[in-house]
Amino acid sequence: MSDKKCPYAPTKLTMNNGAPVADNQNSLTAGPRGPLLAQDVWLNEKLGNFVREVIPERRMHAKGSGAFGTFTVTNDITKYTRAKIFSEVGKKTEMFARFSTVAGERGAADAERDIRGFALKFYTEEGNWDLVGNNTPVFFLRDPRKFPDLNKAVKRDPRTNMRSATNNWDFWTLLPESFHQVTIVMSDRGIPASYRHMHGFGSHTYSFWNEDGERFWVKFHMRTQQGIKNLTDAEAAEVVGMDRESNQKDLFESIEKGDFPKWKMYVQIMPEEEAEKVPYHPFDLTKVWPKGDYPLIEVGEFELNKNSDNYFLDIEQAAFAPSNLVPGIGVSPDKMLQNRLINYADAQRYRVGVNSHQIPVNQPRCPYSSNHRDGLGRADDNYGGRPHYEPNSFHQWEEQPEYAEPPLKINGDAAHWNFRKDDDDYFSQPRALFNLMSDEQKQVLFDNTARNIEPTPDFIKYRHIRNCYWCDPAYGEGVAKAIGLTVEDALAARESDPARHLDSLL
Ligand code: HEM
Repeated sequence: MSDKKCPYAPTKLTMNNGAPVADNQNSLTAGPRGPLLAQDVWLNEKLGNFVREVIPERRMHAKGSGAFGTFTVTNDITKYTRAKIFSEVGKKTEMFARFSTVAGERGAADAERDIRGFALKFYTEEGNWDLVGNNTPVFFLRDPRKFPDLNKAVKRDPRTNMRSATNNWDFWTLLPESFHQVTIVMSDRGIPASYRHMHGFGSHTYSFWNEDGERFWVKFHMRTQQGIKNLTDAEAAEVVGMDRESNQKDLFESIEKGDFPKWKMYVQIMPEEEAEKVPYHPFDLTKVWPKGDYPLIEVGEFELNKNSDNYFLDIEQAAFAPSNLVPGIGVSPDKMLQNRLINYADAQRYRVGVNSHQIPVNQPRCPYSSNHRDGLGRADDNYGGRPHYEPNSFHQWEEQPEYAEPPLKINGDAAHWNFRKDDDDYFSQPRALFNLMSDEQKQVLFDNTARNIEPTPDFIKYRHIRNCYWCDPAYGEGVAKAIGLTVEDALAARESDPARHLDSLL
């Protein structure tokens, strides 16, 4: 509460059973200096609740900020999708957004060099649609098998309990498909000045289907209307020294004073059959679709216009899941996305419980009746006495075939396909990105990389210099010089690299 006047009506203290609490200052003791009595039921309840206040934090993206808002359609895309949220220009849909850093724990500082989570929940009339993206269009990996390893590499070392540049860069440099994302994280965009000043991306390829049953592949882009603003490493160090909650403060206070942040939503659309023909893998999360091939089509705009009255209730307990889809919006064969369709709901059953869909921020704003019953913390009428099997003779829980997605052709032999052998173009897209940078931006990239990789052994530095060099000789030269090593030594060090035995690009 920022001012002296409390906006809430006065309350009287009671226990959970409603009984009045007569004394909230002095514990019940045998005499003024005597021991506590077990019959102090309020003390027992108060401390018992206290030790259960903390729920598990998100395994990653633990530190975040969120707000409620409104999405408005500004352009007609009904020829691509039947999704009701896009059904007419001017239509408004209530939504919730949560932004986050990835590696830091719940108490971590905001102004860290890291990608940012960009998670959106749209309360549509046909169910909640969650677009759980990042502020970058690509990701480090394209196979979910490596996701737990990525997290081990970027989180704390098991022995020192400190973040480890060696673990981080050893892993990244051994997975050259991460190079595109690493280039973005080390670039001048690696530390957004605030959540308001960054773009968002669905990153994966999703799909749309329309009323005629035609499918399109789609990528989502959210472009900040506040402009892009970033921090240098030196500026970030200063910010963190003064304020570890810089992004939370910025978002909360701008909404509080009515300066509502806005993003425009765009899509790139690829007709279903073109996926077979484009020269890159259209479902590979380490690649973008060139905008020259698939231009941005405006869809709508959203603004965040309401802070939560209770951080834990809405932001900590928010449960976003890529599996929260609505008719007209579907997925793609992207194997990362396919795994996320399972993993988020699974994580949330553990983190917030099997009935987390009943928590207000997660609850659909349309009628819902999923026929799941019981479970820890069930707080609604639990479907009362309705028969709970299906089929039944009483028109309960009837399926809705009119919403079926058009069939998707899938074929292929089951195997652990080595995608590195099948598609080893790690560098042409980061090269294009590097060549879009001004000389000044390139120097920032070299210097950020050098500062970040500094604590690692030379064989890791050499490995990264080689990756940079293979991407573009000028990239390799620039990073080598900033580190104080040479490309020649890096290339020569290839034979003695301790990971030479791995089936990897070294
Ligand atoms: C959070 C898993 C890749 C964006 C999470 C959580 C899990 C997870 C378990 C915590 C969920 C919770 O407790 O509520 C995975 C796996 C991935 C993957 C297994 C790859 C196979 C990605 C990618 C993106 C992404 C590619 C972005 C394009 C996010 C965001 C959050 C998150 C934004 C935080 C959501 C929030 O604000 O609550 N991820 N993730 N993740 N992930 Fe991922």
